[in-house]
Amino acid sequence: MPQSILNDQVASHQTDGTQHHSPFEITEKIEQEAELRIGQYPEDQKRSAVLPLLHIVQSEFGFISPEAIEWVATKLDLEPIKVEEVVTFYPGLRQHAPGKYHIRICRTLSCAMGGSYELMDKICELAGIDRSQTSHHNPIAISPCGTWSVEFAECLASCGTAPVCLVNNDFHEDLPAAKAAELLKDYK
Ligand code: FES
Repeated sequence: MPQSILNDQVASHQTDGTQHHSPFEITEKIEQEAELRIGQYPEDQKRSAVLPLLHIVQSEFGFISPEAIEWVATKLDLEPIKVEEVVTFYPGLRQHAPGKYHIRICRTLSCAMGGSYELMDKICELAGIDRSQTSHHNPIAISPCGTWSVEFAECLASCGTAPVCLVNNDFHEDLPAAKAAELLKDYK
């Protein structure tokens, strides 16, 4: 695959978490999954498969690289900039490699009142994570060892068991800051 023209337009996508993710490479399985998704839309509307394809890429490689954007664009007969517009619009679509374990902490009302900000602070303290450079477009902060990354999320639909978080795809409920060390230990 040719070097992405987007590489020159954005900051490095490499992070301390890069070591924990496979390099972008399209396998037969990914190709089949993509074709299945594209086939769910009329031929002249296949651009509608852009989000499903981006989710496939993110779940396989941890984030959406410029090479992945080029691949999605080619699959859907779109200009790469059109795919990049989607990626940069949704903060949930990651533009940089997260850690091996990506922790998403709910910060909506019930969880905020239940201590999710304290939980975030404690996890960052224990994992040595500096969140000072995070922003709307770069919401993820990563530990220097690349093992953990953190991000605030909006309501994860379990307000009655606040505070809650996701570690990769595992859901954790009733998680006050006092249990942060236990949580990290489980994923070391
Ligand atoms: S407010 Fe956190 S799950 Fe709803």
